[in-house]
Amino acid sequence: MYQPTLWEQDGHVSTSTVAGHTTPDEVNRAVWQESAEVFEGLLGWLDRGEEISMLAVASAVRGEPVLDLGVGGGRTTSLLRMLTDDYVGLDYTPAMVEACRRRFPAEHFVHGDARDLSAFPDGHFALVFFSFNGIDAVDHDDRLRILSEARRVLRPGGYFVFNSHNHDGPSFSDRPWNMRPLTPLPARRVVYNVLRRTAELPFSVANFRRLRAASCDTGTYGLHPSASHRFGIVIYFSTAIAQRDALLDAGFDAVDLYTDVDGARIDAAADTSRCVWLYYVARAPLAS
Ligand SMILES: C[S@@+](CC[C@H](N)C(=O)[O-])C[C@H]1O[C@@H](n2cnc3c(N)ncnc32)[C@H](O)[C@@H]1O
Repeated sequence: MYQPTLWEQDGHVSTSTVAGHTTPDEVNRAVWQESAEVFEGLLGWLDRGEEISMLAVASAVRGEPVLDLGVGGGRTTSLLRMLTDDYVGLDYTPAMVEACRRRFPAEHFVHGDARDLSAFPDGHFALVFFSFNGIDAVDHDDRLRILSEARRVLRPGGYFVFNSHNHDGPSFSDRPWNMRPLTPLPARRVVYNVLRRTAELPFSVANFRRLRAASCDTGTYGLHPSASHRFGIVIYFSTAIAQRDALLDAGFDAVDLYTDVDGARIDAAADTSRCVWLYYVARAPLAS
């Protein structure tokens, strides 16, 4: 039976039209700060790709230290706690950290930024996880800092697992009036999607006009307002090849890719035009 992904479920879309913020970083942080309640309600795997990419590393990281970057409202906390007792969740949004502490009072959460993990020693974690495209909230230079910090805090043979929007996928060219579903939908949900996107159109157009100046496209990566928050956040899109190469440049020695909806393992050079986002499983070298 068809299972809607978390992304398609009602109530996930922000009502934000946050004004007065100029850089993508400021814009996105303001939206996260007011979205904690929505993220606090999320449970379970985002989609098949997330489940498969985590299963790919589960036996290697079981019982070992795990760092959950951009933990949001704690959706991934219980999923990762099934793997280990040595867990820390981190987020740069105070409201998200508070939501996690309310939801899981016995767990360990810290307020911090994935661009600066100096609170953690080199080579400590077996797994660093950055779920739900959280890494896409920063610009190119800051993204490279995150890759480098994730690599630094991983022990030899440890894994960095994350998903990220696909430059070659359907959402990089999204406009408010396109009415494209956020992920591929069964026919019965297409009508609902069009109705919802129509109702949201005034917010989406206002946000898109405000943020479109932040758009750019180098051919291998770009920034663009994301339909997922009524065009109220600006996010990074990468080609699969550029993302794989950036991981190799950051010192990882193997990178596996998985598609979003069905979790199929693919080559970075494969046709990814149907994938809104892709999952990356990057391994730190066994010998440092
Ligand atoms: C789309 S939400 C995902 C939340 C959660 N991981 C989930 O899957 O439900 C992205 C989260 O990443 C956090 N985030 C984005 N950039 C970050 C950074 N540089 N450092 C720490 N947290 C960050 C945001 O505050 C937000 O909570």
